[in-house]
Amino acid sequence: MEGTGIDKVIYTEEQIRAKVAELAGRITEDYKECTEGSPLLLVGILKGAFIFLADLARQIEVPLEFDFTALSSYGSATKTSGVVRILKDLDIDIAGRNVLLVEDIIDTGLTLNYLMGNLRARGPSSLEICALLNKRVANKVDLPIMYEGFSIPDFFVVGYGLDFAEKYRNLPYVASIK
Ligand code: IMP
Ligand code: MG
Repeated sequence: MEGTGIDKVIYTEEQIRAKVAELAGRITEDYKECTEGSPLLLVGILKGAFIFLADLARQIEVPLEFDFTALSSYGSATKTSGVVRILKDLDIDIAGRNVLLVEDIIDTGLTLNYLMGNLRARGPSSLEICALLNKRVANKVDLPIMYEGFSIPDFFVVGYGLDFAEKYRNLPYVASIK
């Protein structure tokens, strides 16, 4: 395996902060009908989305609840296995809820496409996607991405939650690896 170090910074901490604030502003506006009695449910896709979700949530100004799901599509290599498995399902019943899926990065889109189908069948009143990064050229399925942070070329990135073999998730910026 050749990926052994950080190559260059793709998005700085400041750029990410500005983008997160922008997305949170749009979400606040779009979900302003959400109340304490009917809060927006943010669903973080583990593990990669945990940092993005934490920063985004603190900028959203409507009542929120949280749940998490874990899926597998990658092993510890940089290529997709093409197989999606639910490693951890939601705890909360999403029937009749406004649900916003929060994902770190969309590559082929296969993982989220599978999840969207699975969650739609549970009858949420709305189901949308917020992804920090989208590798549009690598998309194999056309997903309706309501909130997209950055569109990036098809190369492997780490940091701000994203890993290579479980490393680099804590970097405050997004970087490419060697
Ligand atoms: P997809 O099913 O091909 O869209 O894969 C999406 C998942 O693969 C993401 O949630 C990440 O966990 C992982 N992934 C895809 N590209 C990258 C990358 O460049 N860096 C780190 N993880 C990635
Ligand atoms: Mg992920």
